[in-house]
Amino acid sequence: MSLKLYCISALLLIGGTSGCLYEEAKPLVTAETSKFGPFIEGTSVDKEGNIYAVNFGDSTTLATIGAVTPEQRLFFEDTQTPGTAFNGIRFGAKEAAENRKVAYLADYKNHRVVQVEVNSKGEITSKNFCANPNIIQPNDLALAQDGRIFLSGMKFQNNTQVGDGDIWLCTRGGRTRRLDVMGRTNGIELSPGDKYLYVSEALDRNSTTVSNRIWRYRVHSSGRISHKKLFFDFDSVHTGHLNIDGIRSDINGNLFVVRHGGQEVLKMSPKGRILASIKVSFTFPTNIELGGEKGTTLHIVGRCGIDTPDGEGVGCVDTWENDAPGRAWSLLQ
Ligand SMILES: *[C@@H]1O[C@H](CO)[C@@H](O)[C@H](O)[C@H]1NC(C)=O
Ligand SMILES: *[C@@H]1O[C@H](CO)[C@@H](O)[C@H](O)[C@H]1NC(C)=O
Repeated sequence: MSLKLYCISALLLIGGTSGCLYEEAKPLVTAETSKFGPFIEGTSVDKEGNIYAVNFGDSTTLATIGAVTPEQRLFFEDTQTPGTAFNGIRFGAKEAAENRKVAYLADYKNHRVVQVEVNSKGEITSKNFCANPNIIQPNDLALAQDGRIFLSGMKFQNNTQVGDGDIWLCTRGGRTRRLDVMGRTNGIELSPGDKYLYVSEALDRNSTTVSNRIWRYRVHSSGRISHKKLFFDFDSVHTGHLNIDGIRSDINGNLFVVRHGGQEVLKMSPKGRILASIKVSFTFPTNIELGGEKGTTLHIVGRCGIDTPDGEGVGCVDTWENDAPGRAWSLLQ
């Protein structure tokens, strides 16, 4: 792996302290203690600050969601719909305000978002919230305060074309609308206040990833997005080949960006400055969320180990302490 010199190069550029930090995450769930499979993904937080991820079990149990904290246990399994494969989770803030516990789950095989609700006795019911066979996956989802859902898709091809990535909206009524098509999209997140939507886009040439960028859109109350603007191009720090995976924001609008294959999560300011490079204990982090009692503990998930091949091994979780709570946790309070 090539050395990443973000903080040092920033120092050279402005010739002083840049405020950029090299940090290290701590293992929470290790290969020895894990009850998750290698496709662990879709990190999310509930009102209590508990962290969830998909692929509880082993590499064959793709229709499961597990609670990482306070103890590793099965939260939900879809036993009704054949082929279900979950990749993303978000807990509803609108429903939390009504004292209801509702989560939205992205199923990339059946091209749908499933809504699950936990009642006061702990019983779970589920139903389709939105579905459309033309949605590429969905791969991950971002949940607006008012209940609208933004989805990203991802199709790996040797040579990326426009249409290997997409952005969709699920309206509050469960209708779907395509908002944009582009190269291979992945990470998706809203800023605090739902003013901006961030989406990552990667390009592959001859089976090699050559570009990774983050775009920022202005979000309108209708759900329409406009003013697409390049937020950050990783070519500018010589790491365009590292795939972006999950993106999450804190209440100050800083973004946490997973770099799958880079053993790293970056903390970036709303202006696109790299504030910290957080080293993870495994090579392939997939997604992140801020949780814990105060909503400030970043939980990073991915398959355990260094250079573990895709689909092998088990799922690991690292943590790192942020100076502010996450957007998602904060909306649930
Ligand atoms: C994509 O690349 C892989 C490895 O380089 C190759 O085996 C495969 O045939 C290619 N697929 C297409 C559709 O060209
Ligand atoms: C991709 O492969 C083709 C055929 O082998 C070659 O002509 C082309 O230069 C390669 N492109 C890149 C960007 O490596």
